[in-house]
Amino acid sequence: MSGLPVDLPLTTDRLVLRAHRMDDLDDLVRFHGDPEVVRYVPWPVRDREATEETLRAKLGQTVLDEHGQWLVLAAELASTKTVIGEVLLKWASDRQGELGFAFGREHHGQGYAIEAARAVLGLAFDDLGFHRVTAVVVEGNDPSLRLLDRLGFRQEARHVDGAFFKGEWATTLVLALLEDEWRSSR
Ligand SMILES: CC(C)(COP(=O)(O)OP(=O)(O)OC[C@H]1O[C@@H](n2cnc3c(N)ncnc32)[C@H](O)[C@@H]1OP(=O)(O)O)[C@@H](O)C(=O)NCCC(=O)NCCS
Repeated sequence: MSGLPVDLPLTTDRLVLRAHRMDDLDDLVRFHGDPEVVRYVPWPVRDREATEETLRAKLGQTVLDEHGQWLVLAAELASTKTVIGEVLLKWASDRQGELGFAFGREHHGQGYAIEAARAVLGLAFDDLGFHRVTAVVVEGNDPSLRLLDRLGFRQEARHVDGAFFKGEWATTLVLALLEDEWRSSR
């Protein structure tokens, strides 16, 4: 299997989506340690030390060389150079991907997450030739469902107690967007 060519950074009107750097630590600590932000993502609330450890791992997550790998991008606000969130794309299987995102609470409600997600979907469908991108959301994560709905994702499945998540069973929703749906929504 040959890897996919990922040309970074991706730029949008207000954001630069780029590889993480160690000097992003202060910015990341602000949202990785926020219980509200991590409530529905598969990470625990992280202190500075735990955030630093995961940041080290993210430094290498800038390539899609094999199925199962995640591309993990820092979302930097171009005007201030602050990292306000992260956007992720998994190369799940042949021409199939999975989208993920998390943004700091003070940067919600301004359209930054959707701007970042659109850029990553552009990478997936236009540059990498993906046919289908999914997202898996824990039921109750309404801001994420609103974001995915605005992007044109359709719910395909509801898995009752589909994941043991943060100490309890959680119902998970699987949503998907096909390349044709992406193109017709733009
Ligand atoms: C999911 C998450 C990224 C959504 O963030 P968000 O800021 O609500 O999403 P968007 O970027 O789509 O912003 C939309 C909001 O910004 C408003 N907005 C303001 N300016 C805007 C602009 N220029 N363009 C678009 N929307 C704009 C919209 O009206 C909308 O407000 P509303 O939600 O009150 O209707 C955020 O809630 C989050 O980080 N959650 C925690 C992590 C998480 O659960 N991740 C998902 C795991 S599956």
